[in-house]
Amino acid sequence: PLPVILDVDTGVDDACALLLAALHPALDLRAVTCVGGNAPLADVVRNTLTALETAGRGDVPVGVGAARPLLEDPVDARHVHGSDGMADLGMPAPTLAPDSRPALDLLRDTIAAAAEAGTPVTVVPLAPMTNLALLARVHPEAFARIGRVVFMGGGVDISNATAAAEFNVFHDPEATAIVLDACASADVPVTMYGLDVFYDPLVTDTHVDGLRALGTPVADLAAGLISFHHRRFANAGATIGDAGAVGILIEPDAVVTQRLPVRVELTGTWTRGRTVVDRRDWDGHLVHDPHGLAPAQVDVCLAIDGPRIAELWV
Ligand code: BDR
Ligand code: CA
Repeated sequence: PLPVILDVDTGVDDACALLLAALHPALDLRAVTCVGGNAPLADVVRNTLTALETAGRGDVPVGVGAARPLLEDPVDARHVHGSDGMADLGMPAPTLAPDSRPALDLLRDTIAAAAEAGTPVTVVPLAPMTNLALLARVHPEAFARIGRVVFMGGGVDISNATAAAEFNVFHDPEATAIVLDACASADVPVTMYGLDVFYDPLVTDTHVDGLRALGTPVADLAAGLISFHHRRFANAGATIGDAGAVGILIEPDAVVTQRLPVRVELTGTWTRGRTVVDRRDWDGHLVHDPHGLAPAQVDVCLAIDGPRIAELWV
């Protein structure tokens, strides 16, 4: 199985992603780190422990990370995720506790152990990338030993937090810029699972009926999470959101990617936090780049077989 670390701001769809990563046999979930984002950090930690406990994965260490972005005040998204950050399902408090190591130490140790064993870990940020940016600065030698980064964030043509920016990048644009730069410097391949594909894997009412019929704690939680999302989006189904970024680790040929230069807008009055994806036909040569600094080359997800990834999750 592929060793993975999830970095989360749980979050309805982060919980969907945790269930998939915790239970799919193709993945070996080595650690989870938490960051403030969709909800305040304490809620994120509780929700993450609840999801793992429901999945029977109390063996997975959970590290508590950054409560706020590098520069700005936190702006949560409880209007999207519920007042507890995880669909207000009324679940009992988890009995699990976080790891004694803070997120940065847990990331450092887990990345190093995997690299030393010859199976570098794939890190999957599904949240503002504050923890990863701090890792790049505090433990750059550990960052360089990451096998691959697959992050949910940004978009080529679509945004949600503002007219220009996607929530995770908008919440901590500097962190995203630092991580992309650190990946480029250390030759860590990086994939952007952005809003262009995020909304496509849809779970339908029929799927939810099937989950409810199973009657297991995991299926009940999955059904509760996705039904909450469905109420909010009221379309042909509910997106599994962040869980799609985990899905493409398991079924990589369900997604079409293209390696493209990506920068993060840090200063625009109306565009701060936008991922600027350069789709000009340069044949890979940065000959007419007026900015000096070379942009990171990112495998950008452009299209996805949504039904296939939704089925996988269900
Ligand atoms: C992202 O922001 C959060 O609302 C979701 O969990 C996802 O990570 C989508 O913009
Ligand atoms: Ca998230």
